[in-house]
Amino acid sequence: VEQATSPSVYSFGNLNVEEAYDLERNDWKKTSLSVVVVGASGDLAKKKIFPALFALYYEGLLPEEFHVFGFARSKMSDAEFRSMIAGTLTCRVHARENCLEKTEKFLQRCFYSAGQYDEAASFQTLNGRMAEVEAGCGKPRSNRMFFLSIPPNVFIAAAGGAADFCSTKTGWTRVIVEKPFGRDSASSAALGRGLAAHLREDQIYRIDHYLGKELIENLTVLRFSNLVFEPLWCRQYIRNVQITFSENFGTEGRGGYFDTYGILRDVIQNHLLQILALFAMEPPVSLEAEDIRDAKVKVLRSMAPVRLDDTVLGQYRSRAVAGGKTLPGYLDDKTVPPGSLTPTFAACAMYINNPRWDGVPFLLKAGKALHTRRAEIRVQFRHVPGSLYKHKFGPDLDSATNELVIRIQPKEAIYLKINNKVPGLGLQLDTTKLDLQYQSAYKANELPDAYERLLLDVVNGDKRLFIRYDELEAAWELFTPLLHEIETRRVAPELYPYGSRGPVGAHYLAAKHNVRWG
Ligand code: NDP
Ligand code: BG6
Repeated sequence: VEQATSPSVYSFGNLNVEEAYDLERNDWKKTSLSVVVVGASGDLAKKKIFPALFALYYEGLLPEEFHVFGFARSKMSDAEFRSMIAGTLTCRVHARENCLEKTEKFLQRCFYSAGQYDEAASFQTLNGRMAEVEAGCGKPRSNRMFFLSIPPNVFIAAAGGAADFCSTKTGWTRVIVEKPFGRDSASSAALGRGLAAHLREDQIYRIDHYLGKELIENLTVLRFSNLVFEPLWCRQYIRNVQITFSENFGTEGRGGYFDTYGILRDVIQNHLLQILALFAMEPPVSLEAEDIRDAKVKVLRSMAPVRLDDTVLGQYRSRAVAGGKTLPGYLDDKTVPPGSLTPTFAACAMYINNPRWDGVPFLLKAGKALHTRRAEIRVQFRHVPGSLYKHKFGPDLDSATNELVIRIQPKEAIYLKINNKVPGLGLQLDTTKLDLQYQSAYKANELPDAYERLLLDVVNGDKRLFIRYDELEAAWELFTPLLHEIETRRVAPELYPYGSRGPVGAHYLAAKHNVRWG
């Protein structure tokens, strides 16, 4: 249980006692920070967590007395753990300036403790190691942050071990949990109860790494700090909104995990729905975490559950390519059960039943093994009423409507398609772009990874970009009936070739909702 010792001096001006506690607990001069990566031998830890921690350390954003503890079942010495981590680190910032020296210093702060996720003694041993290292820091307080980077079947046991046997008595203890947060409303509620048995809601940080991406973080700035956008952000001007995620590779070895979830649970119910909520929310009362999350929940609760009639499912199949090679289909992945009907592609149309968005289709589309890797929000505007230039566009007025595109990745960009006169003596119109390309406008090679931003937020206790329990509940309510129907009726996905644009059904779905995919 999170517990703080009384602040020794109450010299905090107008702050109340709680705020004074917070200030003390985050006073890095008096506090050490231990970050425990549970599941330290795993893919996510190596791919994202250690590199993000190193980047934060490299940039001097972590407390001086900061240590990393790896915990997993695999047996490793500290030295082996350090050499495993060393293989994952790169210096993103300032092209390797002092990189080797910083790497060495970072590795010296890393320790490893092997144990079982459901065993009290293992966590007691971990606690002992942490206490020993923290004592050596000579700080009166220590904060502890756990990242549960483990499969869902051991989430609750590990959360219990961390909370019950490794909570600090002198600062805060926070626990980061990774998706999947259950498979449907019931299993998510069970997971919620399991975590709540050991942790308070304010200690739980549910990560959705899409919320940590630069352009998603920018969404509220773009909308609420530019007069040209916010007044247009409604049904009167916006015809439809498309939120698209595509990857140009398949499950590649993660088929075992993927098959129990499928693309609706893996990407749409969380990443894309979170983007939708942030995009469509009413202006929050303030930028405080609770106000933003209140506004997001309101959007989710104004939506009706997705209907099967408004959904298209697909699964990629193999495709022969030049040189006599074949790109493997989903069912060729050895970790996927034969005959699986799990969708690797889905598109669905959703509506928000409130005065701002009534009747505006939000099309969410996600797929693996498509022709390109891209994540974007595309906002298509209505026609200019009574346009003076109607005759210039011919019968296809659709091609002349404005479009705002927020490209989340790769090559982050924001551009607005506008109609413009082609320079010259005649009156020829052209559709062109007002174009903000991050790579040329900013030092985009220095954009922080989503996990850097999110880990730093946990250190600072900032929950704006984390999912509150009621948000999660509302998100599951929108998808659970559809998921159950797909599974009970054994709905077969439409096959699409690896590297294609996905199933043709997605075009019919768009046409049904009077949308032209961008
Ligand atoms: P891994 O499958 O790599 O598992 C992490 C560690 O957990 C392993 O190194 C292993 O460590 C232990 N482990 C694996 N299987 C079991 C099991 N059946 N029972 C107990 N322990 C097990 O997972 P990832 O690192 O890929 O992902 C971690 C979490 O993050 C998962 O919840 C995943 O869904 C989520 N996630 C992952 C993403 C990714 O890109 N990898 C992206 C988004 C979310 P040991 O055997 O040493 O104990
Ligand atoms: C994860 C999904 O949450 O996001 C993966 O489980 C997907 O299937 C990944 O590949 C995409 O993340 P990013 O940041 O690479 O777009």
